[in-house]
Amino acid sequence: MIAKSSPQYKLPSDFIWGFATASFQIEGSTDVGGRGKSIWDDFSRTPGKTMDGRNGDVATDSYNRWREDIDLLVSYGVKSYRFSLSWSRIIPLGGRDDPVNEEGIKFYSDFIDGLLEKGITPFVTLYHWDLPQALHDRYLGWLNKDEIVQDYTRYARVCFERFGDRVKHWLTMNEPWCISVLGYGRGVFAPGRSSDRMRSTEGDSSTEPWIVGHSVILSHAYAVKAYREEFKEKQGGQIGITLNGDWAMPYDDSPENIEAAQHALDVAIGWFADPVYLGSYPAYMKEMLGDRLPAFTDEELKVVSGSSDFYGMNTYTTNLCKAGGDDEFQGKTEYTFTRPDGTQLGTQAHCAWLQDYPQGFRDLLNYLYNRYKLPIYVTENGFAVKDENAMPLEQALHDEPRVQYYRGVTQSLISAVVEDGVDVRAYFGWSLLDNFEWADGYVTRFGLTYVDYETQKRYPKDSAKFVSKWFKEHILSE
Ligand code: NOJ
Repeated sequence: MIAKSSPQYKLPSDFIWGFATASFQIEGSTDVGGRGKSIWDDFSRTPGKTMDGRNGDVATDSYNRWREDIDLLVSYGVKSYRFSLSWSRIIPLGGRDDPVNEEGIKFYSDFIDGLLEKGITPFVTLYHWDLPQALHDRYLGWLNKDEIVQDYTRYARVCFERFGDRVKHWLTMNEPWCISVLGYGRGVFAPGRSSDRMRSTEGDSSTEPWIVGHSVILSHAYAVKAYREEFKEKQGGQIGITLNGDWAMPYDDSPENIEAAQHALDVAIGWFADPVYLGSYPAYMKEMLGDRLPAFTDEELKVVSGSSDFYGMNTYTTNLCKAGGDDEFQGKTEYTFTRPDGTQLGTQAHCAWLQDYPQGFRDLLNYLYNRYKLPIYVTENGFAVKDENAMPLEQALHDEPRVQYYRGVTQSLISAVVEDGVDVRAYFGWSLLDNFEWADGYVTRFGLTYVDYETQKRYPKDSAKFVSKWFKEHILSE
């Protein structure tokens, strides 16, 4: 056991840290440089789909300001930057026989070179929710497994071919649970399909999310197979998937609530992690969904099983879980932040689903490492300060609740590594910049850098200073 006061109470010297973003949330310039439409373009332009009625047409203008973004990363001293590629900038119509857009390739190629020139390691997500609209129009995108697996694999191959000489860290998919549930179940994200209660009457939310999840897993797995067979030896990189998943804590120690918390984990995480790392869907999901849960063929299972080199973890909060809910996407459990004694779990963020509870971060790291037994890359983690958007700039820059969040999480991170022996290799804060927060529009700010959307000027918040300093002080020197 290494004492906290010891100079050895540090992260290993090759620990990777930095900040993350995603193409549609920052790039803007949606009709520039030969880019084809994504499913988020028109969806976000449709009245009622975003909280403030604003869309992704400009975002943080990073398509034009990428040099400035790199300067910002340099000023923070990061080792790495996680960003995503826009499929429809690279293949505007998306499909396996559709032309590659050289302007899109050049944009990302220059960006990658720009990072490398400054010694920043690119961590690249292939898919962060901006499906080419043409594929949705052609065959309903993720709902059509046979088509999408081939189109996605070809897109991935183009990226490996064109960028893999310089990119050594690949993430195939970002947060499949959100793609499936929010896009096709609750209908609040593009393409906004849902048969019940929510915003659309298109689709069948009792089956579609599970079909979509299945297609996403297979697309990921076939892209990984292509990488491993055709590129890995020459390029020498790593590839995996990144899953969202918040810690599920039993509401109290009653057996039914302990079981409920496991059911929540089975659906929130196990839905994707179990097939990829353990080779089958969780038993609880099979029982809950019956034949609404698609099955893998034996051949598919061989490709899916073991298809990630590491565990990619996006996490934000902890939910107290009670048995008895009817929400299948939460494993038929109820989530609350209110403890049995009436107190709150932690500080409330701007969005209803997030409270600050750092012990949950440590517990989740331990759970994932024990269950899936692979090195963990924390690919996203962050906090949105309540009412930050309504604050004057000076006040927003002193983002104490976010500093508090990162103080807690970094302490949990180092305890998990040094005291619990969890093999964590990377940590990315979400997000480098305030940006387009999907259905929340620009109301909810997750940035460690403030963006003034009138001028597009960037201003470091206190949290950015805290995180940069913390990692510089807590990584062992070479
Ligand atoms: C997860 C998503 O990957 C990202 O796009 C989003 O902005 C953050 N969570 C915050 O909600």
